[in-house]
Amino acid sequence: MDFAHRPIGVFDSGIGGLTVFHAMKRRLPHESVIYFGDRARCPYGDRDPEEVERFALEIGHYLERLGIKLLVVACNTATAVALPRLQEELGIEVVGVIEPGAWQALEASKSGRIGVIGTSVTVSSHAYAHALRALRPDVSAIEVACPLFVPLVEQGHVEGETVESVVRESLQPLLQAHIDTLVLGCTHYPLLMPVIRRVLGPSIRVISSADATAERVARVLAEQQLEETGSHREPEVCFLTTGDTASLRLALATWFGETPEERAVRHVSLPI
Ligand code: SIN
Repeated sequence: MDFAHRPIGVFDSGIGGLTVFHAMKRRLPHESVIYFGDRARCPYGDRDPEEVERFALEIGHYLERLGIKLLVVACNTATAVALPRLQEELGIEVVGVIEPGAWQALEASKSGRIGVIGTSVTVSSHAYAHALRALRPDVSAIEVACPLFVPLVEQGHVEGETVESVVRESLQPLLQAHIDTLVLGCTHYPLLMPVIRRVLGPSIRVISSADATAERVARVLAEQQLEETGSHREPEVCFLTTGDTASLRLALATWFGETPEERAVRHVSLPI
């Protein structure tokens, strides 16, 4: 098969990367995609960074063997700890979510006081602070770990009193720091967007890196002349999960109104 006709690989620890997948489907509707959610080992955010790097390399190599043309690491935790090794080891382009998100935040912020929320691993890596300062050295990056958010989202809890009080308490330090922009430094967090917006109020811009990442993918494909034009065949989408297919189907239907065919959702047994 011509290299440009190959699918794009997208991976995340669970369902959060589907926010990036959906932004990509909007921006690049002719592309075929293989989505890989490592739900059996989710969350990644409290694990040893070396372990997350190992998982990311395992999945990256696996998707490369399946014949993808480009890999999107739709997980901030994996981007924070594994992007350089993935770019070094794989023979294809690898795009992460952190740099595109940092760009978008800088475009949105007037004061240069930017809050970043993410998992413990992402926040301890300071990957966002480094990416923001590399683009604009005088920026203030205030990073806060929100370890309870991913388990809430994976269990389907995105609204209600308990969720709101967890979000309110977690975001308090950022309100006190007078940020004007908040980066959702985890691909699960956009699913909490209504609550996050309510807690922050209208004056703080909230950035999810999904659209910026889709834009970056489009640019890389154009630069490498790897875009799918749509004249070849209908795009195919396939969802792989190390967890159970029923809960992935439920998440796809609940969050994105998607009901893929039976054969398009498959279980992958570990080790891969
Ligand atoms: C996680 O698995 O803990 C979070 C995924 C992410 O950081 O985007």
